[in-house]
Amino acid sequence: MSDALRPRHASRRPRALTVALPIGLAVTALGALWALADVPVVAEAELPPMPVVAAALPEVDLTGVIATDPCSDAGVVDALSSGDDAATIAAFGGGVAFRDAVVAGNAPCILLNDPARFWVVVNKTRPLAPLEFVPDPVATPALTATTASDLLRTDAMTALNAMVAAAAEAGAGSIGMNNGYRSYDLQVATYSSFVDAEGQAGADQGSARPGFSEHQTGLAVDLVACAGGCTSIDEFGDTVQSSWVQEHAWEYGFVVRYESGATDRTGYMPEPWHVRYIGTELAAVYHAGGYRTLEEFFQLPAAPDYPH
Ligand code: DAL
Ligand code: ZN
Repeated sequence: MSDALRPRHASRRPRALTVALPIGLAVTALGALWALADVPVVAEAELPPMPVVAAALPEVDLTGVIATDPCSDAGVVDALSSGDDAATIAAFGGGVAFRDAVVAGNAPCILLNDPARFWVVVNKTRPLAPLEFVPDPVATPALTATTASDLLRTDAMTALNAMVAAAAEAGAGSIGMNNGYRSYDLQVATYSSFVDAEGQAGADQGSARPGFSEHQTGLAVDLVACAGGCTSIDEFGDTVQSSWVQEHAWEYGFVVRYESGATDRTGYMPEPWHVRYIGTELAAVYHAGGYRTLEEFFQLPAAPDYPH
């Protein structure tokens, strides 16, 4: 077959192998000749003693070196199987090592589509799997809720309680919640009400289709500002509470998921009220790295729209 007709993926013998074969044959032939020759054997006792290496080996700086197989580490295996996300990240050596290993493709045991883990990335190209996933356990945070969807995963709930208390203590006002966990069925109702009001294209800019919402993981919550009563999510962006959350959410393990200027990567218009729990270790790395989206943090493709 001529090169012009040969499929691009058709394998040819690699150049290195072409060279290696004759060399290999020559080495084998030399070995056979050596075996036939009458070469005197030197007794081990007659050999001069090996020099003793006295100097200690120099210390090697492993900072920044990515573990090649962290998933075989016993600590990682134990932490993962126990379902403890924070312990898993600690077993990797912390948030930086965890992210670097995931991004480098060295951590096949870390699935960024596992909705039960706080490193899950859900977007318009990454639905929940299973589509009707239900988080467990969930509980009600200790803050005013403006809807009946006031549950969160317990680790996210504890962190939210701490964040809201810290905001109040810092003089940033009172923060309440709108929606926390939304079931698949509730997302069906929520999304379809937006479609009814705005059409599908309009709805897709601000409401996830069923099975594609972070709210279904129990790790996302919409915040509202309260002073006596609470205002709506749409009013949150202009409040003192929102400014404080922008600056401090990472300290409690949250990121503002749909930032202004990131629609081309997240697929959604800015939502300063929607925070997503990823744990304090990863949130600190996210903040220190100046990331704006989880897609960039984990070097995933942008998700501006649903696949057609
Ligand atoms: N508003 C966000 C995108 C959601 O529906 O999950
Ligand atoms: Zn939200």
